[in-house]
Amino acid sequence: MIALNERFAGKVAVVTGAASGIGQAIAKRLLMEGAKVVGSDQNPIAGLGEHFVGIKGDVTTEASAEELIATAVDRFGTVDAAFNVAGGSRPGYIVDLAESDWDFTVDLCLKSVFLGMKHQARQMMRQGAGAIVNIASLNARVPMHAGSAYVAAKAGVELLSRNGALEFAEFGIRVNAILPGLVQTNLTRRHFDNPDALAAFEQRIPMGRPAQPEEIAAPALYLASDDASYVNGASLLVDGAWAVSGYPDMRPFRGPMGWNQRTQA
Ligand SMILES: NC(=O)c1ccc[n+]([C@@H]2O[C@H](COP(=O)([O-])OP(=O)(O)OC[C@H]3O[C@@H](n4cnc5c(N)ncnc54)[C@H](O)[C@@H]3O)[C@@H](O)[C@H]2O)c1
Repeated sequence: MIALNERFAGKVAVVTGAASGIGQAIAKRLLMEGAKVVGSDQNPIAGLGEHFVGIKGDVTTEASAEELIATAVDRFGTVDAAFNVAGGSRPGYIVDLAESDWDFTVDLCLKSVFLGMKHQARQMMRQGAGAIVNIASLNARVPMHAGSAYVAAKAGVELLSRNGALEFAEFGIRVNAILPGLVQTNLTRRHFDNPDALAAFEQRIPMGRPAQPEEIAAPALYLASDDASYVNGASLLVDGAWAVSGYPDMRPFRGPMGWNQRTQA
């Protein structure tokens, strides 16, 4: 049995969006578990020690996707795991959304994952093994006001991940997607700065709270690890049970509806 802190010993990983939030948490957890890591971001990345290399890059360009892989191979020799995390959006209602804002969001969330996977898989095919984890969103399944470009791009990430799984399986490469619910990061800061908005979210989430980035990093590492050696083409919801909460809460009506109080807890 491999100790948790050695699961990625001798492995090399690349992470996009590594300067903040979920990407940073994934990079830190990889380092904790023994990996060597190359992270990229459009913003400067804080140093994370001798086993980490941070580079500047724009995930919407093919040159950045190539540079991330070239850096990892040059510095550490291989790319065993890849995490496509960088994302964001310019929201707007469909009737108002500028074409340029649609393109911004879809390029950042969806094209970036295509470009990333293209160059990650080329390297992994040469090695005959690898694992890719793409960060989609619960919004791949659940629409939101003013979120058309984001939800469409995230739905695209989910299916693109499955297409990668299909195309790469024979080369020993696995591709899986994570669909996070609400996570406390810079991306969602405006919700956390507004107590009423946060309360509206918490009411909707059966676990009654948002996730911390580390709670997305842990399942992301699982999917990239040998513990998930037969998990391929899967989507993992990490949402505090949000997705199962669509039915109206009938608890206030349980008397008239004819069912009794819970007997336990
Ligand atoms: N926070 C949430 O509630 C949540 C929920 C579901 C999915 N997600 C997804 O998780 C991923 C990470 O988001 P986060 O919440 O950690 O946000 P974040 O803003 O904390 O981190 C995103 C990082 O991506 C980087 N980035 C943005 N555009 C880039 C570009 N063009 N090139 C390179 N880097 C770029 C940013 O600089 C930032 O460091 C995103 O894909 C997001 O859509 C987040």
